[in-house]
This record gives sequence, structure tokens and C-alpha cells, in this order.
Amino acid sequence: ITVAVVFGGRSSEHAISCVTAGSVMAAIDPDRYEVLPIGIARDGRWVLARDERLAISDGALPEVSGDGPALALPFDPDAAGLVTIEPHEIPRALGKVDVVLPLLHGPYGEDGTIQGMLELANLRYVGAGVLASAVGMDKAFMKLVWQAQGLPVGPYVIITDREWRLERERKLDEVKQLGWPVFVKPARAGSSMGISKVSRAEDLVPAIEAAREHDPKLIIESGIEGVEVECGVLEGVGDGPNEASLPAEIVMLGEHDFYDFETKYLDGTSRLEIPAGLPGEVVERLRATAVRAFDALGCEGLARVDFFVTPEHDLVLNEINTMPGFTPTSAFPQMWAATGLEYSELVDRLIQTALA
Ligand code: DAL
Ligand code: MG
Repeated sequence: ITVAVVFGGRSSEHAISCVTAGSVMAAIDPDRYEVLPIGIARDGRWVLARDERLAISDGALPEVSGDGPALALPFDPDAAGLVTIEPHEIPRALGKVDVVLPLLHGPYGEDGTIQGMLELANLRYVGAGVLASAVGMDKAFMKLVWQAQGLPVGPYVIITDREWRLERERKLDEVKQLGWPVFVKPARAGSSMGISKVSRAEDLVPAIEAAREHDPKLIIESGIEGVEVECGVLEGVGDGPNEASLPAEIVMLGEHDFYDFETKYLDGTSRLEIPAGLPGEVVERLRATAVRAFDALGCEGLARVDFFVTPEHDLVLNEINTMPGFTPTSAFPQMWAATGLEYSELVDRLIQTALA
């Protein structure tokens, strides 16, 4: 069985995708699967990326260098280096692959675009389809879908590019109605890129401008008092029900104001408590809600659902990630390990689900 692992990509989460791919490829059983490591350089070129450094070392983030051999057409790993692949040729180039693992985070990877290309090419792939990926990437539509299905989300304001240009004062007033603090976020980004916590009116416009560097569409959310808790969801095996892992609570150790990029990946200032230190009843309610949030979007394969749990133990959905991080510090594989599914079994299950 040939598994194409696709990583890197054009989003601001390029490096995290590389780290994810490095960990996943190390866990794929070489006796059962042949792995084709396909790196997407930041400029969008696809290359065979066999010897890339794919870990964070001394705080330096990895990157697909783009000087690996260009992929050959028709796709043949042994003959690589003959022809550069243009985007419209990618589906044909992938023709010999049994299943694709699009280990891409963020736009052009986790947002339905590559999923659409794989559908057109009639290829199997791990994870959510086109619509679920697209909705899961866009925090505005994600919340609309959950609200429509009666799932709990916190107060928020959307600011589109047009609204920011033409109705700025009205939108700023709407945001101020939320109370402080608020979290200003690009609607379609990940790994906390471009996110600021804002506690006073004068910091709002700079935070909005910073988020707009990542996406012209923004979501501004009320800060929810409580702890951040994450839960992994896997598609059921065969006709079995979709399953939720034990949840993880994010415990902040350092000075950081919230669970930002440095905290997540670089400076070790957060810790995961698995299972989360919550009463059993709350844990079960949270796991059931995670599966409902997954089903509400029509997800497949896997996702990580992130919550706030208030001091009264109310649950508030924060977001879903249809291709959650799989780095050594990431919650998703650790939560499944604590639930009884080791890293390599988890990767194997994802591939088998996609092939079924
Ligand atoms: N977007 C990052 C990779 C995550 O959700 O884990
Ligand atoms: Mg996300």
C-alpha cells in the first residue's frame, strides 16, 4: 500500500505541518506501507522531500526547502527528478498512490482545497471532505453551523474586509458591546497565528490590523472565563459509532496570556493534563458534545474539538481542527494514547479508515 504523505504548504502553519509529518512518517510501519514524502514548498511547488529536517531543533522551525527532486510524471518515486509538476498535473502525478495523508494545517490544506483536488483525482485520503474541511477552517461558519444545531458557542462578532473598510465605527461599537477581554482572530488561520487578547479599547484597532495580516475576515470573541479543554474524535471503525478520547486540559505554566504559538510549540510553557481534572459527569458530557460537534459539520476520519469549561462546568465550543497537530507536543496523539490507542496504532487506524 502506497501512502503519500503531503506536508508543508502555503499556509502560515507550514512549519507545524512539517513537524506533524515528521512524527507521523516515523510512526508508519514500513513493512506494511510504502511512504512517499511529498513536500509543498511555501511557493506551492510539490517536491519529493525525502531528507528534509522535519523537527523543531533549538527553536528553529523546519521548512520544505524546495530543492528536493521535482516529482516525476507519471508519478514514480524511483524516477523522480525528470519533470516539474505544475499544479494542474498533480492529480495525474498522484495516480499510483493508494491513499493520501494531507497532513496540512491551515488554508490550502485543511480548508477543502486539496480535498477537492483529491476528489477530482478519485483518490482516497485521510480526514474530512471538502465541505467539512471548509467549514472547519472558517471560525465564522463553524459557529453558525453549531448554533443552528443547538450546540453551545460564546458571543462573537464577525468583521469582513468590506465591513472593515466601509463600516469600521459600527463594527468597533459592536465589538465593544462584547465586554473585555476579547480575542481577535483571523477567521481562517490556525496554531494561534495572528491572535491577540485585547483588554482595552485602545488596543483593539492594532489587534485587528495584526489579524488582518493573516486573513481579511476576522472573528472577535468574548473571552470566556474557565479552562481550555480539548478532545480528540475519531470516525468509528466499520459501522461503529464515532469515538471521543479522554480530554486534555491546557495548563499554562509561564507568563503567556493565553495558549499562543510559543506556548504551544516553542518554550514549553504549557502542559497537558490528561485526563482533564474535571468531574466524571462533565468529562462524559464533554466527550458527547465533541462527537456532536464533529457530526454537526459532517467530519470524517479525525478532528480535535476545543472547549472552554466555565467554573460552573458549562461547556462552550471554541473551535474544531479537522487536521489537528500531530507533533510530539500535540494534544491529539497524547489524548488517544491515554485512551488506549498508541501513536502508531492511531496512524494505522486513520489510514485504514480512509481505505475502507
Ligand atoms: N492548527 C494546529 C496544528 C492544531 O490545531 O493543532
Ligand atoms: Mg484551529
